[in-house]
Amino acid sequence: MSFDKEIARRKTFAIISHPDAGKTTLTEKFLLFGGQIQTAGAVKSNKIKKTAASDFMEIEKQRGISVATSVMSFEYKGKLVNILDTPGHKDFAEDTYRTLTAVDSVILVVDCVKGVEEQTERLMEVCRMRATPVIVFINKLDRDGKDPFDLLEELENKLNIKVHPMSWPINMGRDFKGVYLLESGSLNLFESNKSKVSDDYLRLTDLQDSRLDGMLGEKDAEKLREDAELIDGVYGKVNREEYMQAHVAPVFFGSALNNFGIQELLDTFIELAPIPQSRPTSARDVDPNEKKFTGFIFKIHANLDPKHRDRIAFLRVCSGVFERNKPYTHVRLEKQVRFANPYTFLAQSKEVVDDAYPGDVVGLYDTGNFKIGDTLTEGEKLMFKGIPSFSPEIFKELLNLDPMKSKQLEKGIQQLTDEGLASLFTQEPGSRKFVGTVGELQFEVLQYRLEHEYGAKCRFDPRQIHKACWMSGDENEIKDFMKFRMNNIAMDKDGQPVFLAETGYILRTMQEKYPKISFHATSEFKV
Ligand code: G4P
Repeated sequence: MSFDKEIARRKTFAIISHPDAGKTTLTEKFLLFGGQIQTAGAVKSNKIKKTAASDFMEIEKQRGISVATSVMSFEYKGKLVNILDTPGHKDFAEDTYRTLTAVDSVILVVDCVKGVEEQTERLMEVCRMRATPVIVFINKLDRDGKDPFDLLEELENKLNIKVHPMSWPINMGRDFKGVYLLESGSLNLFESNKSKVSDDYLRLTDLQDSRLDGMLGEKDAEKLREDAELIDGVYGKVNREEYMQAHVAPVFFGSALNNFGIQELLDTFIELAPIPQSRPTSARDVDPNEKKFTGFIFKIHANLDPKHRDRIAFLRVCSGVFERNKPYTHVRLEKQVRFANPYTFLAQSKEVVDDAYPGDVVGLYDTGNFKIGDTLTEGEKLMFKGIPSFSPEIFKELLNLDPMKSKQLEKGIQQLTDEGLASLFTQEPGSRKFVGTVGELQFEVLQYRLEHEYGAKCRFDPRQIHKACWMSGDENEIKDFMKFRMNNIAMDKDGQPVFLAETGYILRTMQEKYPKISFHATSEFKV
């Protein structure tokens, strides 16, 4: 197959949701359609279940499962679909944000009973920042959920995106009778069947068709006619351009558990979702069709066996063809690297690959050369942008409990934060280290791994820090500010100065006092 055709058949995306909305179940159903697995229940949930917080190994084991299911590829109707998995646990939200830098679109799963939840809103913010096209799947229609019109309104208000219903439910919960596909005018009647992989549709030329009354009962048939007319008047036909620009999100209703409403979602996804797109770098935009290979690392995962400190770095191919054993330039380290055993993923199996195309994700064994955001090229000096650090929410100072092991601690914390497990801010003089995370869990994982993998004993002491803020604006004013607030300035991993604001009030006061400085909660921002 030609290079252009290889690119044109790839769809790389992530399924995202608030925990428990049904992401894992939906992923599994997609794999069933793709023929990658034969039975339901074959995909292990990668969720980090609510374990006792002290059960570190359990947490790590569960994180380990997410490596196995990090990328799942399958063929469907001539397309190659790459699903990038994201951890469900909120404490690992930043892993999810970073994975979103490696996809071209997302499917957002919402529980019809709970509606838009906290994590859904945050994930959507990240999608909006990157203008990632979104399709929404409203799940669990077999339960009594919120009114579908209210759900649409909630999506628009809370997610700040226009919605466009593509299917429409006929009742919910026990009375759930199925969905009507608004564009094709077909009816998909509900029957709960957890293993069935195809939905049968009844094509209606007209909603006035009297068969509808027979199938749904007069009352429900009438309600559907009214709803459909209303929706048609308000929404009309979906506009692909608006979807591609992330202005409109097509919305489907269904039940992942019952394998219902999945086929139309997948079919529309295959048709609408973008193929690998061009991506901004420090030098220029890189187009996937360029012949020379480029790619970036968006995720790093440690080996579960503490005796082996190698890690797996996940590379998204952005342009050209990635080839096994070919030397590439590691732009940050300015050195040549080559990979003898890169692998790709087919459902749950890993396979060594000889080549990979734009949109593909390749797993690379790494002995500590990579950090998140690193770029590989055929020599050109460019770095992919848009892989920002986010301000953590919990900050603690790292204190060394064994002066004989300072070097090990230093190396350990560097490597573990390279993996993206937490953010590290270093303050000079004195090399004080502040570690920031999204959840408490990471501190426990860090402390455990520092001790077991690096032999370093440490403690984390809480610090009153509200946010880490990157700065832009008038250089002289930034210099003045940094002098004045010396005690609250630290460097991030890339050597960028960050203001560690103690409280929201102090941050606002500083903003008023230094109007020529903009404070940002992410390391990348539009100036
Ligand atoms: P997540 O990855 O987004 O966290 O969610 P997951 O798919 O694990 O689903 C969370 C729970 O919701 C699971 O139940 C799952 O079976 C259930 N679920 C998913 N889709 C539907 C649906 O369409 N209808 C209904 N009624 N339930 C659904 P669980 O009891 O937490 O886990 P399990 O024991 O079933 O695996």
